[in-house]
Amino acid sequence: MEQSSNEFIAYRLRRGSGMKLATAPQGRDWMNETNQSFANRCLPMRMASQSGWVVLNDEPLRAMWNGGPDSGALVIEGAGDFSSRAVSHFGHGILTFPIPFLFRTPPGTALLIRGPANLPKDAIAPLEGLVETDWAVAGSTVNWKFTRSDTWVEFASGEPICMVVPQRLELLEAMQPQVVGIEENAELHCQYKTWNESVVHFTQRLREHEPEAVKQGWQRYYFRGIAPHNGSNDPTAEGHRSRLSLREFVEAGPARAAVTSTPAAQTPAPGGQTSAPAVQTAVRNDFKPALFRTKVVPDFWPRAQEARDRYESFMGNYRAHSFRSAHQCWDYWHVPNVYAYLRTDPAKVIGKELVDDFVKQLTAFCAENLTGTTPLSPWLTLHLNGMRHEIHNDSMNGSYGYVYSLTRSLEAFTGGATCVSREGVFDSIEPRQFKVWRGYFEVIPPLFNQLLLFDDRLAHMVPVVQGTMNPVHGRLCLTGHVR
Ligand SMILES: [Fe+2]
Repeated sequence: MEQSSNEFIAYRLRRGSGMKLATAPQGRDWMNETNQSFANRCLPMRMASQSGWVVLNDEPLRAMWNGGPDSGALVIEGAGDFSSRAVSHFGHGILTFPIPFLFRTPPGTALLIRGPANLPKDAIAPLEGLVETDWAVAGSTVNWKFTRSDTWVEFASGEPICMVVPQRLELLEAMQPQVVGIEENAELHCQYKTWNESVVHFTQRLREHEPEAVKQGWQRYYFRGIAPHNGSNDPTAEGHRSRLSLREFVEAGPARAAVTSTPAAQTPAPGGQTSAPAVQTAVRNDFKPALFRTKVVPDFWPRAQEARDRYESFMGNYRAHSFRSAHQCWDYWHVPNVYAYLRTDPAKVIGKELVDDFVKQLTAFCAENLTGTTPLSPWLTLHLNGMRHEIHNDSMNGSYGYVYSLTRSLEAFTGGATCVSREGVFDSIEPRQFKVWRGYFEVIPPLFNQLLLFDDRLAHMVPVVQGTMNPVHGRLCLTGHVR
């Protein structure tokens, strides 16, 4: 079959396999859990995390290696039929997953089959293989090698077991590597020195707790695609990206059943009660099928700091909160057992012009990435100590929900992340599998100036915020729906 230049085909080899292909998310739980999520400041790591597609495991399993060289030295346990799944084929503590797809890439493009980027596991490490998938007719495997004996290692259902990354071998071979002293390039040397001095100076200001530096937190030069040698007017580097938008694998056959086949989920009814089983089939079917479960866009809005400053000047001035002032605008949205938080029209706090600009930015993003959808106007929402959203879905509201964060003080509270159910975990009963709530959800903290879009027909929640009672330090977001 003739293949067009960008076509990347996965021929399914085993109909019975539940393994799936998906774009790799940019976020990682362990990165979100670092102190103030500082690991998320490393844009190269975030970009690498989504530079490919992942194969998701179907049946959960666990394996242990006793340190021996033969294939019997590896014990594999699980509930499914493992004759066609993970095996000990090579010995020496190597666990082999057959991949249930035969990949076909354009001529000259091979496939690097590697472990999921930036997702380390204890006691085992992924091996990598480069396959000439532009002609090979053999199936592929991904292999993991134990790094420690006598330790159980688990692979959960839905967990990525490998990442596939197309590679242009000609490009690799055409590279002409050389090492040169930076003094040979006077302009670059000067720019590097300016950057280096800027880092040293900023670090010193942080050490001295200079308020402006502390408020800024970190410099963001690379994140924003700029360099300090031209001052703050430095234009964004041409082609700079802070995220990748890979296309999902689509089923090339009879169209998939879309929203109408989505299992009914509990829907908050207008009266505030969770709907009874008899009306759970009330799922709207006129929304677009979702392209993804979650999508995180850091540094989304250039005017975030302006909006944040307006909010702080509004909420930071308690003397202005007189009985008849414009500050009397917050609605305490309380639905028993479901919601408890503060919300208002953001125009009343940060001004209509800024809200319109945000909606314009979001509309442009939707036009580019979610063709045919329109974002609805946002609420400004505020969560302080004790406020929350219990597990629910918004299947009557839109195809996606959005949560755009203007939160600054993540250290002032615990909780407050937007949690979106992981694929498959609510679709099956797993009574013997230990999980706390983090195991059931993808957990996305409300990082400042970060847009989160998600399929809001999936179960989701915001765990209770515990900590600050100061509105300046609470979880602050613009939230709404996209149809
Ligand atoms: Fe919701």
